[in-house]
Amino acid sequence: MTPLIIDTDPGVDDAFALAVAALAPEVDLRAVTSVHGNVGVEQTTLNARRLLGSFGRPDVPVGRGADRPLVHVLDRRADDVHGGDGLGGRSEDFGPAVDESPLRAVALMAAVLEEATEPVTIAAIGPFTNVATLLSARPDLESRIGRFVLMGGSIAYGGNVTAAAEFNVWGDPEAARRVLAGSTVPTTLVPLDLTMRITLSAEWLDDLAEASPIGAALSSTREAYLAAYAARFGTPAIAVHDAVAVLEAIVPGTVQTMPVPVDVDTSSGPGRGATIADMRGSEAVELGRPVDVALDADATFVRAELRRRLCAPR
Ligand code: BDR
Ligand code: CA
Repeated sequence: MTPLIIDTDPGVDDAFALAVAALAPEVDLRAVTSVHGNVGVEQTTLNARRLLGSFGRPDVPVGRGADRPLVHVLDRRADDVHGGDGLGGRSEDFGPAVDESPLRAVALMAAVLEEATEPVTIAAIGPFTNVATLLSARPDLESRIGRFVLMGGSIAYGGNVTAAAEFNVWGDPEAARRVLAGSTVPTTLVPLDLTMRITLSAEWLDDLAEASPIGAALSSTREAYLAAYAARFGTPAIAVHDAVAVLEAIVPGTVQTMPVPVDVDTSSGPGRGATIADMRGSEAVELGRPVDVALDADATFVRAELRRRLCAPR
């Protein structure tokens, strides 16, 4: 079974993603690490602990991660979408919270990598501060990471937090650059271009709520998220970005990718946090190494897989 670490800022769609991973028979979920992002790290850590409790995984250690980006201070969170508690006002419905690990996020990731006898997949679904810190602090462990699956960025879709930037990259552009352009780990990037096409309707969420207690709990977090999407796009349907990325981490090949060099704009101008992808094929030489950018998937299949997995007993 592939060892898996999830680095996360729960977050409504992070909650869907954690449920998929916690219930998946294909992977060995070795650790969950928290990071600042949708809300502050105090709350994302508590949410991760509560979610794992609800999903019956007290065996999975939760390590608290960075409370801020590597360089710049953030001036906003995503509580307008995820609620002030990150889980649509329903965080207290989850639990009981599992214990917090005595190890902080980077130390916990390092311990998992040191102990693993096969390559470890790291799925990062919040700002990439912890992952960048791991790479810089423990370069000796980079070869033990089999794969990064990153939810983040936007190739041609545009931004969702600024005109140019997707939230997870905007949340720490310097860290994103370190991970995307400055590492050698095989990397799959799951950008907005794909995740915004795999939406879940209010009816889909109603159906999920009927299907299982976990489905009901997840569905109950939807209100602010659904309202934000309805206000922006006019339709009552949400994109659960992180769950698509984690599904790909669990079942490689769920998404279709193409190798593209990607770098991150770390300037202080309006492009800050934009992912720059060089789509010129053989002429693409200025940017760093190619990463596998997920630009397509069978949306009907992904929805069906999420539905099946979120209702399956472990
Ligand atoms: C990403 O931003 C966060 O708000 C979501 O949890 C997801 O990880 C989507 O841009
Ligand atoms: Ca997230």
